Amino acid sequence: MPINSKKKIQGIYYPPGDKSISHRSLILTGQAVGKSEITNLLEGEDVINTLLVMRELGARITKKNGKYIVFGIPPGALFQPKKQLDFGNSGTGIRLLAGLISSNNIKATLKGDKSLSKRPMRRVTDHLKRIGASIELKKNSFPPIKIKGVGDAIPLNYDIKIPSAQIKSAIMLSALNTNGIVKIKEFKSTRDHTENMLKAMGYNIKVKENSKYRFIEMKNDKDLKPIKLNVPGDPSSAAFFITAACLKPGSKLVVKNMLFNKTRIGFIKTLKKMGGNIQILNKKKVNNEILADLKINQKTHLKSTILKPEDVPLQVDEIPILSIAASYAKGTSVFRGLKELTVKESNRLELIHQNLKNMGVKSEIKEFDLYIHGDTDLKKGGAKIIHHHDHRIVMSFYIANLICEKSNKIDDKSSVKTSYPSFFKHITHHTH
Ligand code: S3P
Repeated sequence: MPINSKKKIQGIYYPPGDKSISHRSLILTGQAVGKSEITNLLEGEDVINTLLVMRELGARITKKNGKYIVFGIPPGALFQPKKQLDFGNSGTGIRLLAGLISSNNIKATLKGDKSLSKRPMRRVTDHLKRIGASIELKKNSFPPIKIKGVGDAIPLNYDIKIPSAQIKSAIMLSALNTNGIVKIKEFKSTRDHTENMLKAMGYNIKVKENSKYRFIEMKNDKDLKPIKLNVPGDPSSAAFFITAACLKPGSKLVVKNMLFNKTRIGFIKTLKKMGGNIQILNKKKVNNEILADLKINQKTHLKSTILKPEDVPLQVDEIPILSIAASYAKGTSVFRGLKELTVKESNRLELIHQNLKNMGVKSEIKEFDLYIHGDTDLKKGGAKIIHHHDHRIVMSFYIANLICEKSNKIDDKSSVKTSYPSFFKHITHHTH
């Protein structure tokens, strides 16, 4: 059932399993000898592709009564795949597995759909070539990635210049089968789930942070122990509901069991700064990750905000939905330093701007900064949304119907299945 400006957000909401943690849980339990159990795994297409690839590489993965059972194989023992490895739409899947494969003595071709085939891979493969892997890319930049891995990878020091958890995690996964100490310096604003899960599985990893950087040291002298994991709710999926609840008058929403890792909740801080009434309850730590419940009780209209470039990685996937919040907030919001958004599942910076303009919101792009001139009037809407099959653009502009006089038209919403198959069911359930 379509949503419109007369609706508000209500109820007790359980977000689906976190996508980043779901990918990592399959990859890391796939490298642990013994039986691991994963519940609340996100069954989106991206994660299922990672599951199928891990099976092809030797992990035994089955599902019984909603629980995934994984029997892994040790680092260095990946099977020679018999076919090309297809990651569909998933940048996380292809980049992380490129790392894992690079330090195994196998040959593999990693490919994806039309959107993934246009995304930059050198940011990962330039690092991986240094350990001794032979890697070829289409036009020296894009998937398919052809890898001939090495069984005796060289332990190195890395200095990562782009804030990206995918780059860092690819290197970390290559380190699982590297003898000696691997050291990584990166920006501390990237998500740290690979580090947290390795610690929970008893691996030898040290992590330190200062005000700007994170320093990671890994040594492969301790096995990965099997684990029992209940994947926490995905804040990046919950962001659509939380944002909607903050901006629609009269909304009241309780969010249960959501991942509350500090690298993932930048958007909560932003919404609070904009005047969102969000209470954090029942914080707890499980398997080295923080979880919490949230209570949103909409009271006042949101006001504009300014995001600095260093704040962007902490909410990199939430900028599309925050742009909807900014449109309905009083004053001009500025999101600075959005260069990374131009190389996501689509050029999100451009698509946000185009779609906002088409639905009647004034916005401008200056270099990589996005200016949104918001107000608390309903927008005209009725726009044909240009989404290039980007799941987060589709979901953001579907939510935008809550602040439009006339509903927007979105042809082919199927991309939502990559990260959030139950999105439309949940939104119907929670709008009244
Ligand atoms: C992810 C890292 C981020 C994020 C993506 C998931 C991960 O990408 O945008 O949705 O699970 O590591 P970058 O590493 O490119 O910033």
